[in-house]
Amino acid sequence: MLERASPPAPGFRVEIRQGPQEVANAVAELIAADLRARPTLTLGLPTGSTALPVYSALIEAHAKGQISFAQCSVFAVDEYLGLSPDDPRSYAHFLRENLLSHIDLPLDQFHIPCGCATDPQAEAARFAEVLLARGGFDSLFLGLGRNGHLAFNEPGTSQDAATRSVRLDQATLAANSRFFRTPDEQPSLAITIGLAEIMSARRVIVAATGSAKAPAVAAILASLPVADWPASILAGHRDACLILDQDAAGQDAAAVTQ
Ligand code: GLP
Repeated sequence: MLERASPPAPGFRVEIRQGPQEVANAVAELIAADLRARPTLTLGLPTGSTALPVYSALIEAHAKGQISFAQCSVFAVDEYLGLSPDDPRSYAHFLRENLLSHIDLPLDQFHIPCGCATDPQAEAARFAEVLLARGGFDSLFLGLGRNGHLAFNEPGTSQDAATRSVRLDQATLAANSRFFRTPDEQPSLAITIGLAEIMSARRVIVAATGSAKAPAVAAILASLPVADWPASILAGHRDACLILDQDAAGQDAAAVTQ
């Protein structure tokens, strides 16, 4: 009988939890622990469905007096170009509604590229400079695109790509089309942190839930860093973990954690 070869052990830690809520609790606990250890934390945060229960858990921990964001700085990892920060579909709005308006982070300690910038590259450079002045990310939480993207670093991104404006992949446009009434309304450009800033982060936490992420998870666990699957770059990171639910994990991730 032919036996399936085990995938190579990844360079990053893989944790498998039962479902999205358990994943969210695990991510929120890691962020809360980082905040308690370093109240002046520079924290990177994503948008997306995976992040929502994480933010609920952080809001709850804050409400119970277990964590404070008063001294930390929060940087959004990406933003659409062409949407104002007040647009309900902007990532600025998402983060305000789902996290920032419920916690004690002073608003001037929240940073996000402006989606209505007239010079996107200059805006990306301004944002990168603010992050650099804070010493880069202490703790960076990211979702995972179905195509393996991190923030909006799409397949084909070079490992040293820094914060910049980007054109979105067709797969990303399809995955996020649910937030827009017509394709014409959906921005195809964005500003994103780069793989360079991700690899410079002291700690990276990637969460993925649901079977739609299983192909991306399998691909990044099965290969050394390859540009086709941007998240595979984390195999070379000094402190990265991938927290999956069982649907996202599939067979390959189960094998590497045994
Ligand atoms: C989006 C965002 C990412 C996010 C990812 C996953 O396109 N640009 O920052 O992490 O895709 O989103 P979701 O959690 O909704 O699957």
